[in-house]
Amino acid sequence: MAKKTIADVEVAGQTVLIRVDFNVPLDEQGNITDDRRIRMTLPTLTSVLDRGGKLILMSHLGRPTGADSDAFQFTLQAIANRLGELLDREVVFATDTVGTDAQSKVTSLQPGGILLLENLRLNPGEKKGDSDFSQALANMADIYCNDAFGSCAKPDASLFGVPKAMGNRPKVTGFLLAKEIAYLTDTISNPDRPFVAILGGAKVSDKITVIENLLDQCDKVLIGGAMAYTFALASGGTIGKSLVEPDKVDLAQKLMARGKDTLVLPVDTHCGDNFHSDCRKQIVNAGEIPANFEGLDIGPQTAAHFAEIVATAKTVVWNGPMGVFEMPPFDHGTQTVAQAIANSSATSIIGGGDSAAAIQQFGFADQVSHVSTGGGASLALLEGKAFETVAVLDDV
Ligand code: 3PG
Repeated sequence: MAKKTIADVEVAGQTVLIRVDFNVPLDEQGNITDDRRIRMTLPTLTSVLDRGGKLILMSHLGRPTGADSDAFQFTLQAIANRLGELLDREVVFATDTVGTDAQSKVTSLQPGGILLLENLRLNPGEKKGDSDFSQALANMADIYCNDAFGSCAKPDASLFGVPKAMGNRPKVTGFLLAKEIAYLTDTISNPDRPFVAILGGAKVSDKITVIENLLDQCDKVLIGGAMAYTFALASGGTIGKSLVEPDKVDLAQKLMARGKDTLVLPVDTHCGDNFHSDCRKQIVNAGEIPANFEGLDIGPQTAAHFAEIVATAKTVVWNGPMGVFEMPPFDHGTQTVAQAIANSSATSIIGGGDSAAAIQQFGFADQVSHVSTGGGASLALLEGKAFETVAVLDDV
């Protein structure tokens, strides 16, 4: 069922409480090194501000344990500053979430004003889904909005308890969340064909349900990354000292049988004798990796074959790198796949995490349909899951 978005509610003079995911990477001085998650929420924020709404924003940052709460990695102060620069407006920062500082700043908030609350996870009620904490947050607002796609897989207080505590007041999605669901759920369940998935990353065990779900939906599922070595072992090959999950060999055999017309495995491997760009290198047939070598990328024949398959697709979804893309020359397979997706006219969806980092590293992010802002959350949708944190929002 489609959900109401922030565009569907009258916000003039209303206080809108928006859960965003500003869990951005910081360097050792506390500077934000990638502000994409902040920038992606701007359409939602400006939609409220331009219509005369008052904004209260809340997010988590990192995983504070309690003992380390004062550490610079856990305050949203730098994010308030960055958001102010991006919006070219003052962003008021509250040093707590539901305490006296937040309460007094909520009371003095004016139409067009923005208040960012301190890190939700500094309050133990957030991870516990505590009802008093949820109610205290809900009491601040007339309207609740969820634009925190990256966080939606977990029913924390701000994502589940707060919308529940809103009762009959509106509970809507922001534009970022709506876009993520449109691509990662709607497009994938009703794709233009051929529908091709490219899956990589280290472990079969991380992606079992994704592979199973996509084998049912896709015309082709291409497998690269270190998880291909478990499949190579399952095919009776030798994989040297490559990363492997021996306890997943049976599962890999079952997946190969189930996907005999769909699953496409590498035919060659670029390997090295240690995990360095200056190691001794060779390209070998898949499943023929010498004992003292490890696979570090798909080989050039595989990369070219994957690119050919991508070129035929009308819908492409990509999750997980093909090799060690941070370490040339083992970035070749991932770069070739990224380039093929960028060249294609298919609807192209890039899962969050490493694949999002890779498509940005290679400069193709503007040439794909959608780069997800959620790692675990995008995987969950590729597994075919739905989020209770979204179900709780108002239907159209
Ligand atoms: C993420 O970065 O994946 C989200 O912000 C969720 O963070 P978490 O894994 O700490 O819940």
